Amino acid sequence: MSEEIAVIPGDGIGQEVVPAAVAILETLDLGFSFTEAEAGDHVVEAGGEPLPSETRELAERADATLFGAAGESAADVILPLRAAVDSFVNVRPARTYPGIDAVRPETDIVFLRENTEGVYSGHEDRLTEDVSTLTRVVTDSASRRLAEYACEFVGDRNEDGFTVAHKANVMRETDGRFRDAVIDVADERGVQTEEVLMDALAMHLVLRPEEYDVVVTPNLAGDVLSDLAAGLVGGLGLLPSANVGPERAVFEPVHGTAPDIAGEGIANPSATVLSAAMMLEYLGYDDEGAVVRDAVESVLADGPRTPDLGGTATTEDVTAALVDAIE
Ligand code: NAI
Ligand code: MG
Repeated sequence: MSEEIAVIPGDGIGQEVVPAAVAILETLDLGFSFTEAEAGDHVVEAGGEPLPSETRELAERADATLFGAAGESAADVILPLRAAVDSFVNVRPARTYPGIDAVRPETDIVFLRENTEGVYSGHEDRLTEDVSTLTRVVTDSASRRLAEYACEFVGDRNEDGFTVAHKANVMRETDGRFRDAVIDVADERGVQTEEVLMDALAMHLVLRPEEYDVVVTPNLAGDVLSDLAAGLVGGLGLLPSANVGPERAVFEPVHGTAPDIAGEGIANPSATVLSAAMMLEYLGYDDEGAVVRDAVESVLADGPRTPDLGGTATTEDVTAALVDAIE
């Protein structure tokens, strides 16, 4: 039962919050082995590649990867890292916690974002001094694979269906294909779908977030809408995410390297610890995942709290409180 976990702290507060999450996993005493590897700006500054090949190979081989964040080289780290596990879906839950000052505390939404193509397919060109273009790629196969995951996801949660966000009224070919493929898969599986135009959804999320549970989106729309939802539930510092592939997955907080506070020892480890909880559930340790989530919830409610949540505690104080709550 020994799972190998790749641990890639990256830059900035990644170096602070990832060790905190590993300490929590070690407290559970599940016999996991942790293998640490380098990535990010500090590797580039030392003359290396943003994602060294040994780090990529580790992610390709490990049962799961816990990643912190990378700075300016983020795209050169996270995109190939997602590709290393063939991650076709980015799972981003947005909910709030007791005691957190949230704009819309009733928000409890999971975004299932297409993670391989769309406008992030990398096909950009500078044609002339005046003109640049981007080719947006949408395939049936990627859209259907996402939809199959979404159907299983709502089934596991005993929900009837999901919302599909798109802009097929304007991008008839690409978003039209996405919408048709996703709805076709859901229909085949008897899963209900509700369509919503992504711009209208942005407004609905602010006004009536409680009407949405699981939202399936193209790549860029999922990035933007999930950050919008992050704002509704109290900011990026609490949001975990998973990049899931057919056999492996990479777990990471939604936030970045927080250069304004990096090195001060005051980063909030909650998002990364919640990412570790998602990892536990992904690996089949549902009870342990729930224990970690409950511990985060109780520490967020009762303190200690880091300065981003109005407290004066350090990352270490919060980590120690989480360990106490688990024990
Ligand atoms: P950021 O998420 O790093 O920081 C935004 C604000 O939130 C800052 O004020 C920061 O102090 C605060 N914050 C974020 N996480 C926190 C935590 N755990 N505890 C307490 N406060 C926290 O986003 P920003 O400033 O846009 O980007 C900084 C760097 O991070 C950039 O170089 C960017 O490229 C990179 N980045 C990397 C990502 C990744 O590796 N997946 C994702 C987003 C940004
Ligand atoms: Mg983003």
